[in-house]
Amino acid sequence: MTLNRLLIQNLRNIGGVDIAPSAQVNLIFGENGSGKTSVLEAINLLALGRSFRSHKHKPLIQHHQSSFTVFGKVKNDDGSDVPIGISRTLDGEASFKANGNFVPSAADLAGYLPVQVINSETFLLLEGSPKVRRQFIDWLVFHVEHAFFPTWKAIQRCLKHRNSLLRHDRIDPFELASWDQELVSLTEKIHDFRKASFQQFFEVFNELCKEFIKIDGIKLSYYRGWDKEKSYADVLLAGFERDHRIGYTQSGSHRADLKITIDGQDAAEILSRGQQKLLVCALKIAQGYVFTRITGRKSIYLVDDLPAELDEKHRALLVKWLATMETQVFITGVEKDVLVSSWMDKPETPLKLFHVEQGRVVEVQ
Ligand SMILES: Nc1ncnc2c1ncn2[C@@H]1O[C@H](COP(=O)(O)OP(=O)(O)O)[C@@H](O)[C@H]1O
Ligand SMILES: [Mg+2]
Repeated sequence: MTLNRLLIQNLRNIGGVDIAPSAQVNLIFGENGSGKTSVLEAINLLALGRSFRSHKHKPLIQHHQSSFTVFGKVKNDDGSDVPIGISRTLDGEASFKANGNFVPSAADLAGYLPVQVINSETFLLLEGSPKVRRQFIDWLVFHVEHAFFPTWKAIQRCLKHRNSLLRHDRIDPFELASWDQELVSLTEKIHDFRKASFQQFFEVFNELCKEFIKIDGIKLSYYRGWDKEKSYADVLLAGFERDHRIGYTQSGSHRADLKITIDGQDAAEILSRGQQKLLVCALKIAQGYVFTRITGRKSIYLVDDLPAELDEKHRALLVKWLATMETQVFITGVEKDVLVSSWMDKPETPLKLFHVEQGRVVEVQ
């Protein structure tokens, strides 16, 4: 699918923007502070209901304004159009709309516009906390398995109850057993979802690595969040004393992780910064491939400040991957020529150029 219309109102320094992006390549250039990242941020807001650079909504709303709105028209692969929109006010009220109707939460929007972001934060995928990698795995699971999100939410609720029970001195064994039983059944379910997605991801990633990354011995493995030799029920039982002492549940799907090693050592500790970035790009590209393979749909790529993140050689490689996928991309950078030059040898690719200046976005030739 593609985003074929984007309207932004009162977001950061963008007062009002209305553009019709290309179904494939969109290059967005402008000086530092002109509003390029804000355009990508707007698309991410549409896709996920949240920004990739702020957990708070106030900084997003333009100074002296009371709300921001982002509206997009998504063209599905079957040719149908789906309008989606998000708006947030200063006092925190949010509204999400899809197909002309209000939907209750951002999660209800997320299925319409699958987006992959590559920016300086993404490069923390290897050295960041397990949460970042868990979110990475779960992006795919969320988009391919409809039962994932309700199961994930139920686990959060269950863990909250169990942890609050663990903080009591005296624990009713029947009450604990009933939470444990529910937690075990939900956790096994989510593990099965993650394992199935990971298996597909693993195969595609290995193929990509052979072709694109000349680093030997990269191994990707999925850690479920507890000892794989034991059942989760046994782990909960054996870990009870410690859980009780520290007041929370140590093991479980909330501890799942993606381990990336080279000859048994953590990849983040071995690879150069450039190699790490390349590896992260490969992970992101692989995810798009698997998503398409499973669903027949395509995800949109948002690449922020490409020239600042990758040198010329690696830029060319990323562009080659993106071009092969024939997916819609939005790429920002300060210099127009540097952005355009990466696509020079693909003149057949439908490409649009946008110049951003003080929050105004204008299509140029
Ligand atoms: N809430 C806001 N209201 C008005 N301007 C803002 C707000 N938040 C950030 N800005 C300004 O918006 C501009 C755009 O930032 P950004 O999108 O990061 O630019 P770029 O990516 O082109 O460097 C910056 O100059 C910043 O100072
Ligand atoms: Mg920027």
